[in-house]
Amino acid sequence: MSNGLPQTIAILGAGNLGQAMAQGWLDRGEVPASQLILTRHRVGHLHPFADRGVRVTDDNVQATRAANILILAVKPYKVQEVIEEILPVLRDDHVLVSAATGISIADMRTWANGKEAIFRAMPNTAVAIGESLTCLAGDRGANGRLDQVEELFNRVGRCVRITEDLMNAATVLGACGIAYALRFVRAMQQGGIEIGFDSDTAALIANQTVRGAATILLEGSAHAEAEIDKVTTPKGCTIAGLNEMEHQGFSSSLIKGILTSYGKIG
Ligand SMILES: NC(=O)c1ccc[n+]([C@@H]2O[C@H](COP(=O)([O-])OP(=O)(O)OC[C@H]3O[C@@H](n4cnc5c(N)ncnc54)[C@H](OP(=O)(O)O)[C@@H]3O)[C@@H](O)[C@H]2O)c1
Repeated sequence: MSNGLPQTIAILGAGNLGQAMAQGWLDRGEVPASQLILTRHRVGHLHPFADRGVRVTDDNVQATRAANILILAVKPYKVQEVIEEILPVLRDDHVLVSAATGISIADMRTWANGKEAIFRAMPNTAVAIGESLTCLAGDRGANGRLDQVEELFNRVGRCVRITEDLMNAATVLGACGIAYALRFVRAMQQGGIEIGFDSDTAALIANQTVRGAATILLEGSAHAEAEIDKVTTPKGCTIAGLNEMEHQGFSSSLIKGILTSYGKIG
């Protein structure tokens, strides 16, 4: 980490997201196994991590004592319970980062007796392969500790700092967005099978094509529509297909889905 001190990270509630984060940091060599602690009740589910030298335990208090950075990855309704459990051993040097949807920093600060260094992070499951988009919110003060958290998540993808009021929107676009994109890829694969490819070949073509499209935008500065213009020949097959998709409500259904997800959170 940027301050040069060894940092030990405890992920409290290592389920799907918690394990994805651990895998991302470990596989990329960004956090050594000796500096990672994972907790959950059913510790047996964490044996692949234990086999790699990660400390696994069902004891949040012990994990908190041994760590400097605490990442809360339990379900939202468990956040208060876990904060109150670790409160007796919470120190000034602890940084608390919550990935839980919908739980405010103000509420967590109340439960943590006014602790300052509390942040929210909204990664997505691509964190497991070092390709997360992580939205971060919190007070820039707190002795630059948000910088530390940003550095940590930048090692497994890219970070965007946002204001906390956008956290629900970040959940929808970034975390639910993984599912939207996967459904798009699956539909593309199904279409590919219908026009002649076996399912594996259709999947490969769809996956790599979507990666290429995303990379064009991430590595360039062009707008998506400008890149679409390059592919659409007048009277050609691409524009005919695209327009048919729009007649069937393609963009509209995606936007409505995003708004529906957003309405469901708030
Ligand atoms: N999945 C995503 O894409 C995603 C993305 C961004 C944010 N999030 C947020 O991340 C959080 C976790 O989501 P998830 O999908 O990973 O859920 P999950 O798979 O259910 O993981 C939560 C884990 O917490 C453990 N747990 C429950 N009570 C605990 C306690 N008192 N102490 C320690 N561990 C405890 C559970 O394991 P045991 O039953 O063994 O204890 C469970 O494995 C949620 O708040 C969600 O809003 C998820």
